[in-house]
Amino acid sequence: MAVGVFDSGLGGLTVLDAVAARLPEVPFVYFGDNAHAPYGVRDADDVYNLTCAACERLFDAGCNLIILACNTASAVALRRMQESWVPEGKRVLGVFVPLIEALTERQWGDNSPPREVAVKHVALFATPATVASRAFQRELAFRAIGVDVEAQACGGVVDAIEEGDMILAEALVRSHVEALKRKMPTPDAAMLGCTHYPLVKQVFQDALGPDVKVYSQASLVAESLSDYLTRHPDMLGTGEAAFLTTGDPGRVSDRATQFLRRRIEFTAA
Ligand code: DGL
Repeated sequence: MAVGVFDSGLGGLTVLDAVAARLPEVPFVYFGDNAHAPYGVRDADDVYNLTCAACERLFDAGCNLIILACNTASAVALRRMQESWVPEGKRVLGVFVPLIEALTERQWGDNSPPREVAVKHVALFATPATVASRAFQRELAFRAIGVDVEAQACGGVVDAIEEGDMILAEALVRSHVEALKRKMPTPDAAMLGCTHYPLVKQVFQDALGPDVKVYSQASLVAESLSDYLTRHPDMLGTGEAAFLTTGDPGRVSDRATQFLRRRIEFTAA
């Protein structure tokens, strides 16, 4: 049995770490499309084709269920995949609905009409493609009314993290937070809408200040996956745990080891 976890690169490891801690008996096959990262500056067809190719590989590895631990793919490609591509008996799930459910104080799958919630001013930090898709705002509007969202496209942050240049990544985060604050001086909450950003979460929190609650996805996705697998144990699939990359396995393994602080060995996808 195995469950697939996909990202354009290393960011999905923040989700992998949380789901593996929550479900230690489940083997996960991680796929990082490092050769094609970042996705956040690609057009929708490109993201769709790359994400389908990665999912195909994860199905071949025995996965019935794949978590797109990539907001860009979830925002830009997931709906089209679910409507016209995902094969019978397989499921592909995204990562931003659990985040929005937490923000809007909802249980998993609560589809009751939109209502007023505690937060009124929300900052969204995400890749340029995710911001352009307006998928967060659309999902939020299904669940909440009267929430003002200001989005900041954080160009360059994913590239810097993929390159391991954390000094540049941190400087870029500070400047994106400054730019956001010029548009929305006092947000109540901030959503980190890219799975790479938890790797610099403290920098977001410090730049935003202690009064802003910063939501990131890893633990929320872990809870919702656990719930899903309890209801759908048949989706566990076959196959064994693995880390696959389209990039250079040695280089990607070193970066992953640095981020997760345990030895990770990637092999070529
Ligand atoms: N971790 C991906 C996300 O959540 C990064 C996308 C990219 O490669 O730009 O959006």
